[in-house]
Amino acid sequence: MAEPASPAAAELAQKIRAKAARVGVVGLGYVGLPLAVEYAGAGYYVTGIDISEPKVARLNAGDSYVGDVPSATLAPLVSAGKLRATADFSVIRDLDTIDICVPTPLRKTKDPDMSYIVAACEEIAKYFHPGMLVILESTTYPGTTDELVLPMLEKSGLKVGKDFFLCFSPERVDPGNPNYQTKNIPKVVGGTTAECTSLGHMFYSQALETVVPVSSTQVAEMVKLLENTYRMINIGLVNEMAVMCDGMGINVWEVIEAASTKPFGFMPFYPGPGLGGHCIPIDPFYLSWKTKQAGIEARFIELAGNINGQMPHFVVSKIQNALNDVGKAVKGSKIHVYGVSYKRDIDDVRESPAFDIFHLLQKRGGMVSYSDPHVPEILMEDGSRLRNDPEAMKTADCVVIVTNHSAFDYQELVEQAKLIVDTRNALKGIQSEKIVRL
Ligand SMILES: NC(=O)c1ccc[n+]([C@@H]2O[C@H](COP(=O)([O-])OP(=O)(O)OC[C@H]3O[C@@H](n4cnc5c(N)ncnc54)[C@H](O)[C@@H]3O)[C@@H](O)[C@H]2O)c1
Repeated sequence: MAEPASPAAAELAQKIRAKAARVGVVGLGYVGLPLAVEYAGAGYYVTGIDISEPKVARLNAGDSYVGDVPSATLAPLVSAGKLRATADFSVIRDLDTIDICVPTPLRKTKDPDMSYIVAACEEIAKYFHPGMLVILESTTYPGTTDELVLPMLEKSGLKVGKDFFLCFSPERVDPGNPNYQTKNIPKVVGGTTAECTSLGHMFYSQALETVVPVSSTQVAEMVKLLENTYRMINIGLVNEMAVMCDGMGINVWEVIEAASTKPFGFMPFYPGPGLGGHCIPIDPFYLSWKTKQAGIEARFIELAGNINGQMPHFVVSKIQNALNDVGKAVKGSKIHVYGVSYKRDIDDVRESPAFDIFHLLQKRGGMVSYSDPHVPEILMEDGSRLRNDPEAMKTADCVVIVTNHSAFDYQELVEQAKLIVDTRNALKGIQSEKIVRL
């Protein structure tokens, strides 16, 4: 790395190297908390800032609310005074670095909702001071860092690349992945100026294993969107394959398994009941929104969004057909959803296709229940609450496997359930007339 050109950069670089830099993380959710823990573990004093008082209280009590961060890891860092949380943004006066990890959802119109980034930056701007490194990690459209965040920070009269430093670094965390976590997922970072990139690179290199610098914030922003769009489109393709195979009586899972034996040029993606989570169903629309402004239509994204969005309907029609085959209908039947989080072995239900499936079944007169060892209760669309009810599986007319948690006892399921629609190939290798596969 080149020697820093400005005095502020040189001072910050020295603090970062000496682990004397005071690290701040704004937004302590699935992304921010693991990052804060990583820096505290690397020897920095870390302050997390979150508007959620319950999260602040739990963190300060050493009680983790994020599956990938065990309380046994968090608590010693809190007791050693290395990590603390607050809802008071004035602590920024004493911080040297800030990673912004706030939500970036879509509005109902599928337009980006930038309100969380704007609110966080407004607070940061109030206490902004020379020598700070600010890194946006929230997934967003290309241009956000330089077009939206930079002007808010430059209102202070400070100059980027000279008095303060600004980067974008996409967050790639994969909740529930036992092999890849914040520390060993390579971190891409791009700054507004070369000096910014260089400081961002140095900052992440202190706590994370691999850092990949790129030439601008826009490239870094686009990297994340390429990664997630790639996944969304390939899932769309394989979902369409599943529908085609279903129409032709071919087992799509066997097709994918055999195609995966090709040692080059093929990467398996798997069909399912629909997209879920905070990233894959949402991020590509940040890109399509932005490209529309440049007169470019993101046709792959729209098409894949359409196909993926149809999957809950396809699953419900499979349930309906399966019930019809045993002389029943959805109307008046008890249907049990097996797994409601958006993917295996996590407790996150955001955007889970289980909700679409519940809604469609209820609309057709079905009576729904669910079991999920990771999710004790869910809030339904109509405001009512449904509780985890594993016993209901035994009396249901049909069980639909929406999430293939490893904690489920599939053998017991096959023995006790009357009829099963398996959208995840969770019952691979088990032969039974009760099973209808996607
Ligand atoms: N969860 C993932 O798997 C994942 C993976 C990669 C990228 N991302 C991206 O990372 C970002 C954060 O996602 P997340 O899953 O951690 O979200 P999250 O909802 O779990 O956490 C966000 C936190 O920010 C807090 N917050 C909201 N507004 C705030 C404000 N103005 N000031 C301070 N705190 C505020 C919330 O209280 C919450 O604790 C999003 O852009 C998301 O798309 C998420």
